[in-house]
Amino acid sequence: MIKKIVVLTGAGISAESGVSTFRDNGGLWENHRIEDVATHEAWDANPEMVLDFYNQRRKQLYQVEPNAAHKALAKLEEKYDVHIITQNVDDLHERGGSTKVLHLHGELKKSRSTVDDYKIYDINGWELKMGDVDEHGTQLRPHIVWFGESVPEITKASKIAARAYIFIVIGTSLNVYPAAGLLESVPYFVTKYFIDPNARENYNYNNLTIIKEKAGTAVPRLVEELLAKA
Ligand code: APR
Repeated sequence: MIKKIVVLTGAGISAESGVSTFRDNGGLWENHRIEDVATHEAWDANPEMVLDFYNQRRKQLYQVEPNAAHKALAKLEEKYDVHIITQNVDDLHERGGSTKVLHLHGELKKSRSTVDDYKIYDINGWELKMGDVDEHGTQLRPHIVWFGESVPEITKASKIAARAYIFIVIGTSLNVYPAAGLLESVPYFVTKYFIDPNARENYNYNNLTIIKEKAGTAVPRLVEELLAKA
């Protein structure tokens, strides 16, 4: 039977594509404090600024490409049932060729109703503006899970993680819950890898191999090893 590999990714996997991580730049994310742009309070106080911030991120996303790490994970599908659970709001896994991608924190290229969380729409182009409304005339917001908001996809993600044969974590500071807690859903006997140049070394997980290297180098190498073993 084809074996299931579950991969949890964070901003680090997109770093070599030119997308900023959140916590590597002295606490600032693209020159903003996260709480000024990525909270519901920020949206209530200054929706134009929040829309503009995400418009700039979306504009940048159209200018970057998936890197060797994204592409290697797509290649892993040749011999494994690969499920990607990503904290990233970019679409670089999809553009790299991965077919099963669950976005825990939303998607930059989508908008959402401000009255019904389940009404999600594609954004045409890079800009979402004040006055862009859904069919009920309600302002649309970025489809992003902000700090303090619930993470509706976490239940599905935990179920996927619980059935992993191999679990790979790539490029995340594991600072943000509930995503960081997904490792708790992985059975102790499962082989685990953590690829991050700044990974801590004192994680208390069984069967964990820590690879302190960049994703663009370490992920293609690990993928080749796993394909050879399949
Ligand atoms: N390859 C692999 N990892 C890298 C690379 C690289 N080339 N460059 C940086 N990293 C690692 C850093 O060492 C760091 O551990 O990527 C990690 C990025 O951590 P964060 O910036 O905290 O990003 P992430 O863990 O994805 O943040 C989680 O926080 O703000 C929220 O919702 C947002 O999804 C995000 C969540």
